[in-house]
Amino acid sequence: MFSHKRADFGPDFLFGVAMAAHQIEGGQTDGRGPSIWDTFANTPGNTRNFDNGNIACDHYNRWAEDLDLIRDGGFDAYRFSFSWSRLIPEGTGAINQAGVDFYDRLIDGMLERNIKPLATLYHWDLPSALQDRGGWMNRDTTSAFADYAAFAAEKFGSRLESIATFNEPWCITVLSHFLGAHAPGYRDVRATARAMHHVLLAHGLGIKAMREVGTNKNLGIVVNMEKCDPASDKPEDIEAAALGDAIFNQFFLDGVLKGSYPEKVTDILEPHLPTNWRDDMATLNQPLDWVGINYYTRFLYTADPKVPVFPFTQARGPLEKTNVGWEVIPEALTEFLVRVSNHYPGLPIYVTENGASETDEAKRISFFDRHFAAMVEAKKQGVDLRGYIAWTLIDNFEWAEGFTPKFGIVGMDPETLDRQPKDSYRAFQQMLQSSPA
Ligand code: FCB
Repeated sequence: MFSHKRADFGPDFLFGVAMAAHQIEGGQTDGRGPSIWDTFANTPGNTRNFDNGNIACDHYNRWAEDLDLIRDGGFDAYRFSFSWSRLIPEGTGAINQAGVDFYDRLIDGMLERNIKPLATLYHWDLPSALQDRGGWMNRDTTSAFADYAAFAAEKFGSRLESIATFNEPWCITVLSHFLGAHAPGYRDVRATARAMHHVLLAHGLGIKAMREVGTNKNLGIVVNMEKCDPASDKPEDIEAAALGDAIFNQFFLDGVLKGSYPEKVTDILEPHLPTNWRDDMATLNQPLDWVGINYYTRFLYTADPKVPVFPFTQARGPLEKTNVGWEVIPEALTEFLVRVSNHYPGLPIYVTENGASETDEAKRISFFDRHFAAMVEAKKQGVDLRGYIAWTLIDNFEWAEGFTPKFGIVGMDPETLDRQPKDSYRAFQQMLQSSPA
């Protein structure tokens, strides 16, 4: 069980769980268009064990049972994402009514159970039809996103507690266009620079479009932050870690919250960024109502002048690790919360993802508990922290790693897809139900 009680987090602190459309829904029927994750995962060599999200957790059919689990766990909120190509199969143009009906059922199902719907518009599954025209490399995708945002806000906005434009711009751009690990699987610096700018421009245009259709509360964005430490105390390694930090932890937040990019990064990417990118910076910088931080782990940086573009290599360190090899460093969560609250004052903050891949439940429980302590500490230091969303409810399709990682507080029988609550689920249940907010 956790050593924390709800009361430790203060009144109105929100607890939720997060899942993302492509990782759980399956249900590639009823008019849903293909997305880049369908083709990427169904191409050999891109995912562990050739796993894919074709069925995933079959949440498309089992959503009611999953919402029951969220309610019975005592959670206040469910952070979910819309599949853009389920709503708009080609990314622009015709609407798929069956997709609208699905999200209507899901959102109404949450409200009936007293679960606050926290929506994300883009958790990585770009409609393939947009990728055919260059995806995030193409500036036109930004206006397609704004139209999609306005549509979703108009249709569902009045029933949603909050809307995030993007989940983790770093993963959408660097991981997917530079490191080639996620769809669309590019390793190209020009593609990366363009994607980095266009995703944030799409965010700005999306926020504007949602405000224009009258969705005026609770609009935000979710970024992932990762601790960037030098592998040694050599000055070049310290510089490499500072560059890593500028790319990972500053570029996207400064872009949307300050309307500027760190020079360390633009000095390198300038030749590859769209011409006149500076003219867009005011559009990126829309007023937001909150910011979400996903936090898991850190990387160690070693300078290596042979490496083009970003002259460093990254490695995992020696500390305690989860079973996907990610080091456990709860105090970095406090650091990030304090840092975001100081650099971008006045913005309520949510931890929108945090969790561990484990098969040992005692370890998962301890992981959560130590990150709770890190949040309590941040609050003590004055951070306006409003909630914590655990990753994740059910073991699911963990992207390129397939079904091997186990981030869920609920397991799933691979044959029957039956849900199996774990000890960590019961720990949440006990903490959240025994001492109401
Ligand atoms: C985050 C993603 C989420 C899941 C967790 C483990 O980067 O947002 O979909 O993959 O990591």
